[in-house]
Amino acid sequence: MSGLEHLSGDVLRREQERTLASPRLRYSLLARALFLGMDLVYGRRRTLSKFKVLELIARVPYQAWEQVAYVAMTHTSRAPDFARRIFDRVRESRHQQDNEQWHLLILEDLIAQRGVREGFVKFWLLPQLVAFVYYQIVWLLYVVRPARAYLLNAEFEDHAEHEYMEFVRDCPELEREPFESVVTADYGRFESLADVFRQIGYDERVHKEESLNWMTQPRFA
Ligand SMILES: [Fe+2]
Ligand SMILES: [Fe+2]
Repeated sequence: MSGLEHLSGDVLRREQERTLASPRLRYSLLARALFLGMDLVYGRRRTLSKFKVLELIARVPYQAWEQVAYVAMTHTSRAPDFARRIFDRVRESRHQQDNEQWHLLILEDLIAQRGVREGFVKFWLLPQLVAFVYYQIVWLLYVVRPARAYLLNAEFEDHAEHEYMEFVRDCPELEREPFESVVTADYGRFESLADVFRQIGYDERVHKEESLNWMTQPRFA
């Protein structure tokens, strides 16, 4: 599996209950503006297409951190220990970025299988624009106040975790839908689409916890 720990059906159900029983983080103004903007453009209803946009944006902070870390590593030839620590952080970022990429591929595949039609502006151009702006914000935050950048990402991941778990709760028909996808060999086999989305929700929680953990450490500790 090219992602995080692959959980069994029983464990996934328990993890879903855990998310549903826990309150969301108290989102900052910036995070709330982002979620509100998404609701206004894509509607409040949770759809595959809306989740796809979410996943497109979710990769952005990891890309920004990887890029900043590469610049930092380039100027540390006289401090190999430091360079090594940065490289470890780059690897973690890349791992999470890959995990988000699998989420995106799953959603794209499901959307294609269902023949959902998506407008170019709303589902391609606009998400790219938002991703571009979000990249600049996260990059700048990360350079100036890394803890704040990690917190913003934790908020984003917390939102995604709850959205996926609530989506499964509200769509019981997903329990009977099989999961056949081009990514099955990589992301893993699941009994139903409901379990796939529970696994994705669980992945988002792991991302959140990692970001919260990074908040308490120096940038490249
Ligand atoms: Fe994701
Ligand atoms: Fe995530």
